[in-house]
Amino acid sequence: MRHGDGVDGREDARETQRQRIGVQMKALVLAAGKGSRLRPLTNTIPKHLLPVGSKPILFHVLDQIVEAGITDIGIVVSPDSGPYIEEAINESGQCRAEIAFISQSKPLGLAHAVSVAKEFVGDSDFLVFLGDNLIQEGVGSFLDEFRASSAEASIILKEVPDPRAFGVAEVDASGKVISMVEKPREPKSNLAIIGVYLFTPEIHEAIAQVEPSWRGELEITDAIQKLMDMGKEIRSHLLQGWWLDIGSNDGLIEANRVFLDTYLQDDVRGETDPQSRIAARVQVEEGTRIERSSVEGPVLIGANCRIADSVIKPFTNIGAGTVIEDSSLERSVIMGNCHISGVNSLVGSVIGKNSSLTMNRKCPDVLSVFVGDDSKVELR
Ligand code: DAU
Repeated sequence: MRHGDGVDGREDARETQRQRIGVQMKALVLAAGKGSRLRPLTNTIPKHLLPVGSKPILFHVLDQIVEAGITDIGIVVSPDSGPYIEEAINESGQCRAEIAFISQSKPLGLAHAVSVAKEFVGDSDFLVFLGDNLIQEGVGSFLDEFRASSAEASIILKEVPDPRAFGVAEVDASGKVISMVEKPREPKSNLAIIGVYLFTPEIHEAIAQVEPSWRGELEITDAIQKLMDMGKEIRSHLLQGWWLDIGSNDGLIEANRVFLDTYLQDDVRGETDPQSRIAARVQVEEGTRIERSSVEGPVLIGANCRIADSVIKPFTNIGAGTVIEDSSLERSVIMGNCHISGVNSLVGSVIGKNSSLTMNRKCPDVLSVFVGDDSKVELR
């Protein structure tokens, strides 16, 4: 099913009284936007399809939504990213939800992205989840709290040391939101607004009154502040567990570090020879062979890889079909079908799929690179 800006709205009969309990909620995943901070990787793959653990971050988001009981999900995509995202979801064959793809012609802001999905959400209350964010605890209890309240919106907050790069909220002792500002120079609290929101259809009235911000976007933060100005109650939920945002290359490495650290268990399905040493919390998929190497978890090695004469250190995520020879890797994300040879200390790196990295002489220094798909790097 497709919707989007430019599609005529169908006026359904609207209930005058909203009954929160028992009404089927919908969810919107926002996956348009440029991903410019993750170039060159995002020149060939939407950032929402970049891996966290063994699957794209977007698939984790969809899983968390389905686990919370919502199976009617709209994904807002851009004309560029849409076909890749649609193909990845269809090919995976794992999605347990009814998915509608909604096209946003330009990335004009989160509030704009929500407004293009107005027809899709109709009269339902809905969850909005940014497709490049992930939270540890899922969204089940956040939904339950909202259903039990009479608020028109609810947001999730996380205490951070420096919230200036985020939306920032001020709340009272009961968790009621008092004010919200997008990326303030002088934050009034240390509470960052993370990318998960709950709304009633009332949000559309507020969005209609929002003007573009200094960055030229219709900000969802401004729309929620508008709701407050209209006298509506906004609640908040304080996140205790981690929050991942893969918006930058460091973000992608850190997301993989935290994810592997939290979830990885011993699960070696590939083959290892007697000269290899596999420590705890290593996952090796089928068809992979490890020869004369040492692997120190948490490490994830995908299917059909060959690791030879190498040392794989913690927090490394190696995609399927990769060959690593005579190298040492640590805290890095290597996407599928790569070839790494003779690199004696690759640390804090990201390498796009179908790429090769070869060093023809031993270098005592640590190498840290951020390489896009289909690249060839040779250090002589
Ligand atoms: O990560 C949390 C932050 O996300 C919040 O603290 C901010 O209040 C909120 O505005 C947002 O800020 P960002 O500047 O990080 O948003 P970004 O432009 O990275 O977009 C977040 C996601 O939304 C990303 O998956 C792309 C998607 N998106 C973005 C825009 C601008 C759309 O689908 N359409 C858009 O027009």
